[in-house]
Amino acid sequence: MAELAFHLNGTPVSLAGVSPTRTLLDWLREDRGLKGTKEGCNEGDCGACTVMVQDENGARALNACILFLPQLAGKSVTTVEGLSPDGKPHPVQEAMVAHHGSQCGFCTPGFVMSLATAHLTGERDHDMVLAGNLCRCTGYAPIIRAAEAASDLPVPGHMGGGFPKGDESPFGEGGSGGREAPPTLDAFATWYEENPDATLIAGATDVGLWVTKQLRDLPKPAFLAPLAELNRIAPAGDRLVIGAGVTIETLRKALTDSHPDFARMLRRYASLQVRNAATIGGNIANGSPIGDGPPALIAMGATLTLRKGATRRVLPLEDFFLAYRSQDRRPGEFVESVSIPANAPDLRCYKVSKRFDQDISAVLGCFDLTVADGKVTAARIAFGGMAGTPKRAAHVEAALIGRPFSAEGIAPARAAFALDFQPMTDMRASAAYRLTVAQNLLTRYLLDRQGTPTNVLEVAP
Ligand SMILES: Cc1cc2nc3c(=O)[nH]c(=O)nc-3n(C[C@H](O)[C@H](O)[C@H](O)COP(=O)(O)OP(=O)(O)OC[C@H]3O[C@@H](n4cnc5c(N)ncnc54)[C@H](O)[C@@H]3O)c2cc1C
Ligand code: FES
Ligand code: FES
Repeated sequence: MAELAFHLNGTPVSLAGVSPTRTLLDWLREDRGLKGTKEGCNEGDCGACTVMVQDENGARALNACILFLPQLAGKSVTTVEGLSPDGKPHPVQEAMVAHHGSQCGFCTPGFVMSLATAHLTGERDHDMVLAGNLCRCTGYAPIIRAAEAASDLPVPGHMGGGFPKGDESPFGEGGSGGREAPPTLDAFATWYEENPDATLIAGATDVGLWVTKQLRDLPKPAFLAPLAELNRIAPAGDRLVIGAGVTIETLRKALTDSHPDFARMLRRYASLQVRNAATIGGNIANGSPIGDGPPALIAMGATLTLRKGATRRVLPLEDFFLAYRSQDRRPGEFVESVSIPANAPDLRCYKVSKRFDQDISAVLGCFDLTVADGKVTAARIAFGGMAGTPKRAAHVEAALIGRPFSAEGIAPARAAFALDFQPMTDMRASAAYRLTVAQNLLTRYLLDRQGTPTNVLEVAP
């Protein structure tokens, strides 16, 4: 493997010969003896392993347990040991002590790293910042008090220096930072066509678990993050083209004004650490029936661009999902981008899960209806959690179009849900619950569009 270069706690590190699927957490603890970064779940759920990663785009909190070393090429990593190089505690550490924010302390380094990252970026929504950090004994009130107290204190000098730029290229001398794939999109496309057995790795929030939980060996890991062309959001006429490598958190921020309800729903996608890594391309390509991106994108009328070598194929996103875990993607073909309307003012997305944060949807319903003179003239509705794929509600849509958009008018559409969906019963919800919730979400959409407050918690009882 080629040389891999990054900064660790301000010091340049150059590695050769490490496995490309070695996680940062294992490497820190086992190879560097830096045991402040803890292992709780080893699957991205608890935040005990949170580190700060900086690059030219700024600072992000990430879970080290599902971060492979090549994903750090050219970046700067700060662990809890690097927060106080001069021995003086960081302001968030001081505040955690002052406000009694720690009992057993196992979760504390992860909390401190999430808070130090927010302190640096100026993010003050601490409910959001800490949604991916689990504490079993202190309770969140003192931790939030500590976070708020630290917010007004200045960033210590050693944290404010930004992303240290070393001499080394992001991928090390002549190498690919553990990637076998080349670093430009055209060259990558050719390479992948010739190497269709490669394992594409974007944010690794799925693939990471194949290694940490399923103990799988990944043939030919190919890291997509360095492909700058995949990481862009670009306007194209009345549409936006979102590169497959755009992270969920970047997307959430970018769409806050133009697609407000989609952005609001993405706030409930996993946690900040996971959203900082997970990409929209990975969320589509994995074909999960309970992924949060696809139903919203389908309801918006998204089209998908697939690429194989120099050839591109464009298809409506709903046609990509063929059956449970089966997608219309050919060997050597990858997701290049997804195109959506430039804005979606009438789109509403309702995520129903057992917890507000960091939970997979039991049902996700997304509605985009056009109403003129009190009647529905166009309808796009898509659901997750109701079938083996993210799926459009064709019968429901047909039962809405041409009818009054009122409680009476939508009654046939409510009944039509049973024609579109035969949901399953699993640990998240029963089939009957799913069907009832889906019908009720249509009523809720009606009330929302009418401006009637529904005051419904988006968390199942
Ligand atoms: C703790 C936790 C919480 C989560 N919560 C949610 C949630 O609330 N909602 C939700 O929807 N998901 C959730 N997920 C799942 C996961 O975050 C998403 O599926 C994510 O979008 C995957 O993107 P990624 O970039 O991490 O993909 P990866 O893990 O890198 O890849 C996923 C799959 O897609 C393939 N792939 C990636 N990019 C491409 C491409 N451009 N072309 C072709 N194939 C590609 C990979 O080969 C792999 O098969 C959660 C995951 C974790 C660990
Ligand atoms: S160890 Fe739990 S998120 Fe990494
Ligand atoms: S202090 Fe014990 S888990 Fe948080």
